[in-house]
Amino acid sequence: MKNILVTGGAGFIGSHVVRLFVNNYPNYNIINLDVLTYAGNLANLKDIEHKPNYTFVKADICDYQNMVKIFSEFSIDAVIHLAAESHVDRSIKDPFSFAKTNIMGTLSLLEAAKQQWDGNFTGKLFYHVSTDEVYGTLGDDGLFTETTPYDPHSPYSASKASSDHFVRAFQDTYGLPTVISNCSNNYGSYQFPEKLIPLFIHNISSNKPLPVYGKGENIRDWLFVEDHARAIDTIFHKGKRGDTYNIGGFNEWRNIDVIKVLIRTVDRLLGRKKGQSLDLITYVNDRPGHDYRYAIDSSKLKDELGWEPSLQFQEGIEKTVQWYLNNEAWVLNITSGSYQQYYKDMYGK
Ligand code: NAD
Ligand code: DAU
Repeated sequence: MKNILVTGGAGFIGSHVVRLFVNNYPNYNIINLDVLTYAGNLANLKDIEHKPNYTFVKADICDYQNMVKIFSEFSIDAVIHLAAESHVDRSIKDPFSFAKTNIMGTLSLLEAAKQQWDGNFTGKLFYHVSTDEVYGTLGDDGLFTETTPYDPHSPYSASKASSDHFVRAFQDTYGLPTVISNCSNNYGSYQFPEKLIPLFIHNISSNKPLPVYGKGENIRDWLFVEDHARAIDTIFHKGKRGDTYNIGGFNEWRNIDVIKVLIRTVDRLLGRKKGQSLDLITYVNDRPGHDYRYAIDSSKLKDELGWEPSLQFQEGIEKTVQWYLNNEAWVLNITSGSYQQYYKDMYGK
């Protein structure tokens, strides 16, 4: 029996990780620790909330004393740390909350793990989930590898880079067994509609303008979220302690091309005229410090641990659009509340 603390398990990626571990490992106790910010939503886990190997704890990772208590109470053997402030645009408006949660929150968990495990590290692991944004931005060529120097540009990526450094410092200084993965852009079900794909699906289906930053020429590498959860499972069980693994889809798209795929897919599934929603495309001011291109070389993960993405982008987008159209109540529950103020502050109307 292992007691695994998953932080941020009520968020987008965290909920997929919790679901995978609860369903696939009945001999693990999965403790989902989440403070339920605007991005945390227990409705993401309705299908597994009554499973005997699942427990939810509402707590803030920045509350160090409480983290120590929880590590001891649940006799935690391993951590999969996903809790974070995750949206770049919000980090531009409010960098303090990103430094607090992403840096201080990670430090508080590392300290609590160190204290609880007290030098007895056999069978213990602190797994830190990070992002490719720590590597900065690429020109038209090249890929991020695990040895690419850190060069973050947004307050979000700077805070994630800092948290990665703390994790490595705990490995090197105290021998805490850690592993880090840096993943590219995820998409799929249960993603908060502030990020490009769910936001644009929602706006296309509601006939609202699609705010494209700059010329829409920035490039991202997209990975289906369930493939990311599988990669985390693989690295958790087979990854080398103290090591780093890049996770990506080998699937680069210019934003404007992703947007056109979304328009085609939503229009078709809603039985609209082909191309009807192209008029919704609205070019707006660019994001300050907007990274031009992210692209991940995940061959180390493939060669050493045998993980590969399972879905083609077209198939993943089809599933994703279907999911948002079929789960209107989930979307409405989010978009009818404080989200409206967020939208006004961010996009002006
Ligand atoms: P998300 O914003 O959907 O979820 C974050 C979760 O963390 C929420 O449930 C929130 O309530 C919780 N949380 C925030 N502050 C907390 C605190 N102080 N204490 C406890 N819980 C707190 O984020 P996501 O997109 O699912 O990302 C999860 C992780 O994966 C993050 O660390 C992010 O940096 C990383 N990541 C995300 C992507 C992506 O494309 N979304 C890609 C690579 C890496
Ligand atoms: O690369 C991994 C990262 O991917 C994660 O670490 C972050 O948590 C996650 O939010 C994501 O960051 P991005 O900034 O790339 O994702 P976002 O969905 O916000 O934007 C994707 C691209 O779309 C980016 O180039 C900005 C653009 N965009 C986004 C929004 C919200 C627009 O043009 N208009 C928009 O309204």
